[in-house]
Formats: sequence, C-alpha cells, structure tokens
Amino acid sequence: MSYVNKEVIKNKTLKEFMEVLVFENKESGSLYAAQVIANKVLMNNSVNEETVLGLATGSTPTDMYKALIEINKSGVSFSRIITYNLDEYYPMKKSSPHSYHYYMYDHFFQHVDIHEENIFIPNGEIKSEDLSKFCKEYELSIRRNGGIDIQVLGLGLNGHIGFNEPGFSMDSVTQKVTLSDTTRTAAVKYFGKKEEVPFQAISMGISTILSADHIMMMAWGNEKAEIVKESIEGQLSKDVPGTYLQTHKNVTIILDAESASKLNNDRISLTESKLS
Ligand code: PGA
Repeated sequence: MSYVNKEVIKNKTLKEFMEVLVFENKESGSLYAAQVIANKVLMNNSVNEETVLGLATGSTPTDMYKALIEINKSGVSFSRIITYNLDEYYPMKKSSPHSYHYYMYDHFFQHVDIHEENIFIPNGEIKSEDLSKFCKEYELSIRRNGGIDIQVLGLGLNGHIGFNEPGFSMDSVTQKVTLSDTTRTAAVKYFGKKEEVPFQAISMGISTILSADHIMMMAWGNEKAEIVKESIEGQLSKDVPGTYLQTHKNVTIILDAESASKLNNDRISLTESKLS
C-alpha cells in the first residue's frame, strides 16, 4: 500500500534542494503532508523500525492530523512512531486547554495507536532550576532515537519556526525563549486576552530543526503570503528564521494557492508533478 497525492497544481524547485508544492487548498496540501508521513511509517513498519517525527501545533497542521487519524484507522499502525513536539508555552500546566500538550492529545494522540512512552513534548511544568537540564535531555533523547526523520513545521507571521523568533541564530538549540510581541498578539485568538498569553516558551532550536532528515513546512492563506515569499525567496537572514530552511538539503514547502500568491510567478510552472 502506498499513498500518493496527485493534486499538486504547481511545483518548483528554487534553491538547489528546496521543493515548493502549491495545492489547490489547505485540505489537499494537508492530505499530501499526511501521506508523506504515512509512506515513511509504512516503509519503516515493514522492516520493524521506528519512525521519528517532529510535530507542530497551531492552526496550520490541524487538517494534517485529521488525515493522519483516518490513515491510522485505515490500518497504518502508529505504534512505532516516536514524536517530539517543537515547543510549549512556559510556564504552562499540561492540563490547561491552552497547552500544546492538550492540543496534541486533543487533535492527534488520543485518536491513534501511538504509545504514551513514545510521546515527547517540552514540559511547561518544569521548575526553572531544572529547565536547562531538561532542554539538554530533550536534545539527547532525539539523538538517542536516531534523529528526526520528518519535521513538520508551520510558519509564524513574523517568520518564526517553532518559537525561534526573529534574531535567533542558526545554531540555537532547545531552550527557554522569550516570545515576540507579534507571536503573543497572534495567540490572543486562543487565550482570549493578551495578558493571558505567556511571555516565554520552551522551543526546539533552529539547529535541532535543521538536523531533521526531511522538513515539511506548511502555510495556508493570504495572511502568510508575504512571509512565505520572504522565507523562500528572500536573503538568508536572522530577521526571518524561515529563511534558514533554504540551507537544508531536503525541505518540502507545502502551500495553498493563497499563501503562494506572492511568490515569483516566473519561477512557478504548472507541471505534470513528479509526484504523479
Ligand atoms: P499557526 O502558527 O499555525 O497558528 O498559523 C504557525 C506558527 O506560529 O508557527
């Protein structure tokens, strides 16, 4: 069994390795992302190997999780997946509906056959004196499990990846971070009031993200069009952490028509996709 999506409407490769796939809409893009993951899991399951996934939260990956739940129900076992989440607010109770722990169980984990002990999410309840040890252990744990096979990413309005905000260097590792004002403002839709949005978080670093074998970054809608363009076509810059993806050898950017609308059209060709 193999999952292949034939709905790519535009496909281009910009920097030497960056693959940009533009889908009709976020549903078909999300389905494609889920199918890439399913293919990897199927392949690894067939040789009794684990699949290590880096996972994201926020509004971007919700349809991908829905598709993955359906794929799991259709018989692809997730009992051998190991997951590392990108980030968590700090401080944050796991039980809070605003926590990314809550999000992940609600949107994905509680609906599939993943083993509890294979789930890793930065701990927003850790005491501040234990934080740096926790972050080091998070990095080591990823390495002990052989590194991340596929890292799923969204893109912040300010170009952040994970909670690595503008200004972060490419060699940053998992650590406590301070959220930018843009990020806190964007979170008001979940928290209700800006005062309720934490000022800090624990985030995987840029170097942690870039050490994944394959990175899939998704972005949907007009509001992301400008930052998508800057991240893909702009100069490599610490002001837009999304541009760091240009340095990775195996990145797939998954867009809908709206988020791709500001990309340089001369360089996008309507293609008979290589996926078909
Ligand atoms: P969003 O956030 O998915 O809620 O748009 C993306 C991000 O901040 O990384």
